[in-house]
Amino acid sequence: MTQQWNSGTYDTDMAFVSRFGESLIDLLKPQPGEVILDWGCGTGDLAAAIAGYGAVVSGIDASPEMIAAARSKHPELNFILADGQNYRAETPADAVFSNAALHWLRDAQGAAASIAGSLRPGGRFIAEFGGQGNIASVVEGLPHAFAAIGCADRLELPWYFPGIAGYTTLLEQSGLIPQLALCYDRPTPLTGGEEGFGRWLNTFADGILSVLTAGQREEVLAIMVRELKPQLFRDGKWVMDYRRIRVSAIKL
Ligand code: BEZ
Repeated sequence: MTQQWNSGTYDTDMAFVSRFGESLIDLLKPQPGEVILDWGCGTGDLAAAIAGYGAVVSGIDASPEMIAAARSKHPELNFILADGQNYRAETPADAVFSNAALHWLRDAQGAAASIAGSLRPGGRFIAEFGGQGNIASVVEGLPHAFAAIGCADRLELPWYFPGIAGYTTLLEQSGLIPQLALCYDRPTPLTGGEEGFGRWLNTFADGILSVLTAGQREEVLAIMVRELKPQLFRDGKWVMDYRRIRVSAIKL
């Protein structure tokens, strides 16, 4: 299973990812001169927004396509191709920020240790990502669709959607003391009208679908659309059943 990112369609069709992340910057409260890491920076737009406060920002991401796009869009910033499950910053940062990325890091213990190991004592960790029950419609719908085309054994879900209690315990065990922990529903409208769900699935479930032929991929999409439309399509738009965890924590 290999997840490929298309940075162009990500920026146009999935612009909501950065837009929703902007409110997380209010929680980060970046200060001039602070060293801040954006953990899973994608195409770098939030890193650039944080740098706009005068902070010295580096973005890290495990996708070569995303890092290439970030470097080309924001050449004034530093972007590092690295795995957030085992990266350690050379210079301990004042803050680690992460929007919509940690649910891709299934080694959550490794990620928390890497984040803690990249912060100075007293440094802060501010993050938002998918929590338990996030995109439940898709998590439950994919096994039905794969089974319907006789490929149940090929399905592997790449996401980590923890409960809030388990996640804050993990942070504590990693030397990150939670200050705030929220879990909330955030229905997320997609652009593209009828086409919105297909674009979403082909972007975020690309790795999952990569084990299928092009024809099987189409079949899975058609089954998912048929099963999920009554629940997720309203007023001409798909509205995804996102559920977020938002945390802030301080490094011991
Ligand atoms: C999200 O919650 O942002 C998300 C989760 C899985 C796939 C795509 C997006």
